[in-house]
Order: sequence, then structure tokens, then C-alpha cells
Amino acid sequence: MKAIFPVAGFGTRFLPTTKSTPKEMLPIVDKPLIQYAVEEAAVAGITDMIFITGRNKRAIEDYFDRAYELEAELSQKAETTQLEQLRAVIPDGVNFIFVRQGDAMGLGHAVLCGRPAVGDSPFAVILADELLYTVPGTPNASQQLIAAYQHTGQAVVGVGHVLGKAIERYGCVDVLETDAQGIMSLHGIVEKPTHVDAPSQYAAFGRYVFPSVMFDYLAGVKPGRGGEIQLTDAIAALIADHGAVAVNMDALRYDCGTKMGYLEANLDFALRHPELGAGFKAIVEARIAA
Ligand code: UTP
Repeated sequence: MKAIFPVAGFGTRFLPTTKSTPKEMLPIVDKPLIQYAVEEAAVAGITDMIFITGRNKRAIEDYFDRAYELEAELSQKAETTQLEQLRAVIPDGVNFIFVRQGDAMGLGHAVLCGRPAVGDSPFAVILADELLYTVPGTPNASQQLIAAYQHTGQAVVGVGHVLGKAIERYGCVDVLETDAQGIMSLHGIVEKPTHVDAPSQYAAFGRYVFPSVMFDYLAGVKPGRGGEIQLTDAIAALIADHGAVAVNMDALRYDCGTKMGYLEANLDFALRHPELGAGFKAIVEARIAA
């Protein structure tokens, strides 16, 4: 399977940092967000990583390229740990493909830009600013979605439960019924409903798997909210003709497109970090006690 990583957005909620740095390059402790996303995809068996990029996103291309001078320098100094860390950025057997989205016309448009690189195969869509933590040794978010796709043959939307008015910030799924595997069949999906109109408290959290026919629906969608081509509108049209399902992902989710979500992710990932965790916990506890 192939994966599309839309990274062409402006990241306005994270200005001024995102003026010249892609938000996907912001680090969570010691790795950029985009690396977590690529590692998740690679573990799920995805070999073709397709990035939909825009202006100011060159840092992502450079990050997934070899750094010969740096590698030569580190191997000359016998800095083997750092050399290994550097080489681990590019998982074995993985291809990186970069497609430009000339005008940022919305998430749906960004996904459609990936069509020539995907062709006729099913594909995943992964939003790197939605960081999903799963316990090591358990299936990650993309694996959970791919398993549901293999089981149903239908488009899969990864969702999570949110409380109260929080649903107004997300794509919200209208759930029809849940099968024995916990897979929910979908009646519809709406973008950012009001709290009272929301058909459920399940929000789309940046993980999808689609059959290739999805591109036809993306191509047919008219600009919606904010003049953008909305992924949600194309999913709604796809559901009507082909059906779709949602998976309540077994994962902890961090919205790293916002400053608060980003801080929370750094806190939790630092506390869990094998080398830094214990020392960092002591610092945090001392601060709280002060
Ligand atoms: P967001 O709306 O969350 O990201 O889009 P954004 O536009 O970068 O951030 P804000 O809202 O201005 O702070 C969801 C995803 O879709 C990508 C973004 O990069 C992000 O990963 N996207 C969005 C595109 O690739 N192209 C677009 O035209 C719009």
C-alpha cells in the first residue's frame, strides 16, 4: 500500500514558527513530527511515501535525503550511535515521492494531487500533525485502519471520541452500526458541525484508508467551507455509493497543529523517553512542587 502525507498547509495556528519552518518538522522531544508519521506507515507495511508539499517545505525533502557530508564526518569520528540515528531516518525499502500542490486549495485537493503517484491501488492518508501514540508491541493507528480495510474492502476513517463542544472542530462521523470487530459502518460524515447538530461524538483524527475510486470523488467535489476542496465532502459522496467504515482507534492522540496539543505531546513523549524520561520527570516534579 502507498501513503499520502499532505504537508502543504500553512500552519497558521503555529505562527510565527511556521513562517519558514514546516510544522511537520517541529520536534517532539528529539524527532520531527513527520518522522513519527513515516515510521508509523513503514511499520504498517507501506513502502511508497508520497508527500504533497508546497512552498517553504523544502526542509522535508532534505530531511528524507541522504546527508553524505554529515555521514562521512560522523563515521570519521567513529560516532556510531549518531550515525545510526541519522541513517534510521530513512527506513529500509521505502521510496519517497514529492508532489507539489501549487495552490493550497484544501486537504481534499492536496490528496487529489497524489493521484498520479498512487495510480489504481488503495492508499492511506496520514496527517503528520495528528500524532497518535500506541503502546509498543500493539498495532499502530495505520495498522488498525489497514486491518479494517482488508476486512471490509471499504474506505476507513480513523476516529476518536471527543467530549461536548470539542466536536465542532473536527470532521464528525454519523455511525450506523458496529460489528463484532468494533468496526462501525458509516451513514455519513460532516465537517465541523455545531455541537447540537453533531451526529455523534466521534471525530476524524487524521488517518484514512481509501480505495482508488476515492480520487473520482475528490475530482468531482465542489469547493466547500472556506472555498477549499474538503476531504470530508468527498468521503460523504463516496459513502453514498460505496459505503465506508470508521475505526475507533486504540491510540492516544495529540493535535500537534495547535500549541497546546504540541506541548502535551512533548511532555508525554519526554516522560516516556527511555533515556530522558526519569531525569525529565524529576525536573517536572520539582517545578510543580516549587
Ligand atoms: P490543517 O488545516 O490542519 O493544516 O490541514 P494547516 O492548514 O497547515 O494549518 P492551519 O489550520 O493553518 O493552522 C490538515 C492537513 O492538510 C494539509 C496540512 O498540511 C495538514 O497536514 N493541507 C491543508 C494541505 O496539504 N494542503 C492544503 O491546501 C490544506
